[in-house]
Amino acid sequence: MKKGFAFDLDGVITDTAKFHYVAWKELADSIGITIDLQFNEQLKGISRMDSLERILAYGGKENDYTAEQKEEMAADKNANYVKLLDDLSPADLLPGVKAFLDAAKEMNVPCSLASASKNAPFILKKLGVYDYFDAIVDPATLKKGKPDPEIFVRAAELIHIDPSEAVGFEDAQAGIEGIKGAGMYAVGVEGNEPLTEADMTIKSFEELNVSDLLNL
Ligand code: G6P
Ligand code: MG
Repeated sequence: MKKGFAFDLDGVITDTAKFHYVAWKELADSIGITIDLQFNEQLKGISRMDSLERILAYGGKENDYTAEQKEEMAADKNANYVKLLDDLSPADLLPGVKAFLDAAKEMNVPCSLASASKNAPFILKKLGVYDYFDAIVDPATLKKGKPDPEIFVRAAELIHIDPSEAVGFEDAQAGIEGIKGAGMYAVGVEGNEPLTEADMTIKSFEELNVSDLLNL
């Protein structure tokens, strides 16, 4: 029996990955590094600063900038990213997500958010689903990012259940590893790239039923 859900945000609840990509590409271009969509897959689920470090390493520039300059670059990227979110609205929820959250609410199933994004509360509000979450993990309080299980362990703790009683939803390989490492049941939301290690993969939440998941 499962008792609660832990959701990733980007790529699970809404497709903000495309905006992260546009903003990172602009930043990378400005320092002479070319990234493509395939490389972008590696940035999914990865924190802002770790994403920047991966881009710099990809371009062979990992030793070219001071910590202060990196902070500035990450802030610039975020400012651009937030601008791209300006028009985000409930229409940007991925298919089936709203109905799934409604059903979970109806059945009093606690939901928590396990996203590495510091913009998560702002994004949930723009999507009109902030109130559906009983808890939101603050990524600034974590010691390690995904694939470490810490964020999912915390997500379960915040809704007062054991990780083994939770179902986690992720679109990133690093996130699936985090869910499995925490001891949760992992549902992979597949985009273009196949996910390995997930207990179940779906293309969209339209394929899911809350009761079936609780009975796992
Ligand atoms: C999510 C996304 C990553 C992003 C990270 C941090 O995990 O999948 O691509 O880098 O959040 O997001 P933030 O909004 O804090 O820059
Ligand atoms: Mg994601």
